[in-house]
Amino acid sequence: MPEAAEASTRRRIRAAGGIASGVDCVGVELRQRRALPGILGPMFQRRKPEPGATGAIEMTGLTLQFGTLVAVDHIDCQVPHGEIFGLLGANGAGKTSTIKMLTTLLPPSAGRACVAGYDVVAAPAEVRRRIGYVPQMLSADGALTGYENLLLSARLYGVGRATRRRRIEDALEFMGLTAFAHRLVKTYSGGMIRRLELAQATLHQPKVLFLDEPTIGLDPVARRSVWERLADLNREFGITILLTTHDMEEAEQLCRDIAILHAGRIAVRGRPAELKASIAPTATLDQVFAHYSAMSEGGRLRDTAQTRRTARRLG
Ligand SMILES: Nc1ncnc2c1ncn2[C@@H]1O[C@H](COP(=O)(O)OP(=O)(O)OP(=O)(O)O)[C@@H](O)[C@H]1O
Ligand SMILES: [Mg+2]
Repeated sequence: MPEAAEASTRRRIRAAGGIASGVDCVGVELRQRRALPGILGPMFQRRKPEPGATGAIEMTGLTLQFGTLVAVDHIDCQVPHGEIFGLLGANGAGKTSTIKMLTTLLPPSAGRACVAGYDVVAAPAEVRRRIGYVPQMLSADGALTGYENLLLSARLYGVGRATRRRRIEDALEFMGLTAFAHRLVKTYSGGMIRRLELAQATLHQPKVLFLDEPTIGLDPVARRSVWERLADLNREFGITILLTTHDMEEAEQLCRDIAILHAGRIAVRGRPAELKASIAPTATLDQVFAHYSAMSEGGRLRDTAQTRRTARRLG
């Protein structure tokens, strides 16, 4: 029941200390528009770039250190508005660390990053208002229903009471979850959970959406349905997407622009076709990845173990 769910959500938000902390609390805005047939509500506006912002994401000498370990090493990279950008790289290459700085969850050790026109250090709240984030680890609460999870997100992201219910219903419909709205998330499949997390991350129409391995552990059908939702979000609403993946088919299907990280640095960047042509006329993206990411090293044991744990949780 929406009223009971709302009361329970309010209690959870109070217990969590309100908007602010944690991975799930990164603010996003998705104004949904009923005018789009059968999909999103009338409030949805195609997002315009911030005045003066040259790219949706701008990194200049961006660096992150954990003690003596340099996880992200002076990255210079600009992602234009409306792009679907793939950040690839072996386990431990620095993908998640980069996303954590761009989503204001970790402060850079050096350098600068701007997202949707705002500096992640100088104006973190402005950045959070304009981004969505689906983290590598599952973030939906299994003890709540899909509807309750969305209600929690709507309140955290400041969606007004008057429009909250309609936006949640539109988001559920868009992600193909209407029939499961009032089932506990712990009974959802991995693919349904990922779609619910996408709905949560886009309830307020973000300008930029960050996805850390969005389809890890999903079967081919579930994976494809996530791809379709992402392509729709990008095409229909102009949302810039930055995603990480180890799935070269996913990168090739979704990303128009790719950077391969190796040991915290960008080893190469370009369109998938350009990258393949740079290796050999018949090269695959797998071969490009192996060439630039020193894949034979296989990643560190700790990184591989974490990836397997994530896959198990989803699978
Ligand atoms: N909180 C932390 N403290 C110390 N080291 C960390 C921390 N988080 C990440 N690292 C290290 O930083 C490096 C980059 O890690 P990161 O998680 O960004 O890699 P990744 O490219 O996302 O890898 P994966 O593909 O396995 O998710 C790794 O060597 C990792 O062990
Ligand atoms: Mg990672």
